[in-house]
Amino acid sequence: MKLTPTQQEFISAHENEDVRELALRFRGEDMPFLLAQIAGRQTAKHKIPSWYRTGEIVYPLHLSLEQASSEMTARYKASLVQEGKARFVDLTGGMGVDFSYLSACFGHAIYLEQNEELCRIATHNFELLGLNHATVLHGKSEDYLSQMEKADLIYLDPSRRDERGRKVFHMEDCSPDLTQLKDLLLEKADRVMIKYSPMLDISLATKTVGDVSEVHVVSVDNECKELLFILKKDAGECRYHAVNLHRGGEMEDFLFTREEEMQEAVLTSQPGRYLYEPNASIMKAGAFNAVGNSYKVRKLHRHSHLYTSDLLLPGFPGRIFTIDEVMVPNRINIRRFVSVTEKVNIAVRNYPMSVAEIRRKTGLKEGGESYLFATTLANSQKVWIVGKKVKNKR
Ligand SMILES: C[S@@+](CC[C@H](N)C(=O)[O-])C[C@H]1O[C@@H](n2cnc3c(N)ncnc32)[C@H](O)[C@@H]1O
Repeated sequence: MKLTPTQQEFISAHENEDVRELALRFRGEDMPFLLAQIAGRQTAKHKIPSWYRTGEIVYPLHLSLEQASSEMTARYKASLVQEGKARFVDLTGGMGVDFSYLSACFGHAIYLEQNEELCRIATHNFELLGLNHATVLHGKSEDYLSQMEKADLIYLDPSRRDERGRKVFHMEDCSPDLTQLKDLLLEKADRVMIKYSPMLDISLATKTVGDVSEVHVVSVDNECKELLFILKKDAGECRYHAVNLHRGGEMEDFLFTREEEMQEAVLTSQPGRYLYEPNASIMKAGAFNAVGNSYKVRKLHRHSHLYTSDLLLPGFPGRIFTIDEVMVPNRINIRRFVSVTEKVNIAVRNYPMSVAEIRRKTGLKEGGESYLFATTLANSQKVWIVGKKVKNKR
């Protein structure tokens, strides 16, 4: 498994080149392996920077790396685990990114994976990463679970692809199928953490599984990346965390319960001085009333999920814009706006035209400092709201 000096030299020399072009230029028995290393390092540079810096990490075929978690989301998972616990089991080890961060909180950690090649790679990589408390096992989660010793935490990140490589969106279509394993999982561990794709319907999944004590909707720089379900026996009321991790190091974590969300609908109002757009995790988690009521902002319309206030609330979990102008998009107003605007970032919410249609109709170019929200107010008036992003918010 260890890379030879010649292989390392080849990888470094071509690390920034196009892998498909390299495949045409070079032939040789170990070429597929070397190209997988180059492609792996190119992905890891952004996705798993600590691994990238550990030069001799070996990467598997592309799909495993694509399915692996990023360093940022793996670190977030580790932050949910209490340090100093005894035993951790990852039943779907894969590339081992989640394992490498989660296992650091435990005295002994077991990595299980059905793919033998991934087990070999994991053994090599864990040694390089200094994970001396890790045991790598080859096998099926279902078989191992039925005979394993009790653990403090079991983690699963089921495969989200079927045999033909298509993405699947239902819990039952993932491997392993959690709906079949849940009772046994809770017999074998005090806590179970499961990762799913953000494509999954959260309410349906929570109902299907039961015993869900926490749901974490995790975004990175406002792009929804994963859903985490934490199960434990007698879970009580489920708490939802809508989390947005920023590459700059900050994070937003909005906590709510379904009961809070069901309590009272946010009132609507005409646009005030600021426009508030909740982050992608709040949108996915469906915390529309909870976020509005917590921050005492009002909605522009029941269905648009854009909020407003005369106050600047810097802690709001999402983007904040000044409202510099609210205009009715008639011919005269559009002509005037276009004549003084070179570039603008356009978004539509609850509006009959798409961004592309507005651009085509007006000739407005994308970019610049200004933002235009085309939307509908509570009195059904269609408007364009123009403003600027309040600094230090993505
Ligand atoms: C999404 S990947 C895990 C990625 C991993 N969390 C990481 O950060 O690198 C899922 C892995 O589960 C493995 N897997 C799927 N079904 C399994 C099963 N029934 N038993 C054991 N492993 C399984 C797949 O081979 C795949 O490597």
